[in-house]
Amino acid sequence: MARLEGKRTIVTGAGSGIGRASALLFAAEGAAVLAVDRDAEAVAETVRRIEAAGGRGIGLAADAGSEKDIADFVSHAAETFGGLDVVFANAGVSGGLTPLLEQPVSLWEEVLRINLIGPFLAIRHAAPLMAAQGGGSIVCTASVAGLRANAAGAPYSASKAGVISLVQTAANALGGTKVRINAICPGLIETGMTRPLFDGARERGTEDRIGQLNPLRRAGQPEEIAAAALFLASDESSYVNGQAIAVDGGLSSTHPFAPSRR
Ligand SMILES: NC(=O)c1ccc[n+]([C@@H]2O[C@H](COP(=O)([O-])OP(=O)(O)OC[C@H]3O[C@@H](n4cnc5c(N)ncnc54)[C@H](O)[C@@H]3O)[C@@H](O)[C@H]2O)c1
Repeated sequence: MARLEGKRTIVTGAGSGIGRASALLFAAEGAAVLAVDRDAEAVAETVRRIEAAGGRGIGLAADAGSEKDIADFVSHAAETFGGLDVVFANAGVSGGLTPLLEQPVSLWEEVLRINLIGPFLAIRHAAPLMAAQGGGSIVCTASVAGLRANAAGAPYSASKAGVISLVQTAANALGGTKVRINAICPGLIETGMTRPLFDGARERGTEDRIGQLNPLRRAGQPEEIAAAALFLASDESSYVNGQAIAVDGGLSSTHPFAPSRR
């Protein structure tokens, strides 16, 4: 049996990278997928790929940081699919690399709105539906940037640290409801968000140095995060709750070090 057979799911940020790979994998594993992204064309392409592979998907252009949009797409999924079992609150923005002391408040507000308040609102609107129907799984995308410094800018890192705390506090706040809430902390993954880094390294011929700080000595692919999202979404993770799982090639397991030269 497929690993998400009969599950009714939402994936945000499904127009690119980790979200698209997860939407495709969820559908391939038997889920009905509401794919959400603020980029209408990109999410339509994700749905085309789901359908071409024989899966069930619908697309919706919406802002995953807006309470109105979140309330709308949660109820749209529940009405269309007849319930809701899984939400992967994955949409996020990097916020760029403006130096700390030059960052305007508006930058912090926008990054926190999308990366942290969005997942909170996804929980707030989806969890009651899930609880009423006997349980569900909510997965949020955090980051290794939420564990330690230097993986991204300050607003991004703070937003992802917030997501890690959110899944811990929400899993406890929802104790007894059978709604599980977990996060994934990806390391460096090749997606739209990190494209400039990969393109720059390829242009300079330093591609082999990408990911050199983790023990696997390489960057990750979106499908490797989708595989973790699939596990957390499925009943295979039925006793995993309130956790933030790093999927980072081992990056967060180490102290800073200088790789030996061969
Ligand atoms: N790529 C990495 O190395 C990496 C590492 C750690 C965490 N992450 C996180 O993974 C998640 C997915 O990012 P990705 O790497 O796949 O990047 P990506 O840019 O390829 O995909 C992100 C998608 O989210 C969409 N999006 C952004 N803001 C949105 C909003 N307000 N409403 C709806 N959709 C919105 C974008 O249009 C895009 O399609 C993000 O939360 C990101 O912070 C990425």
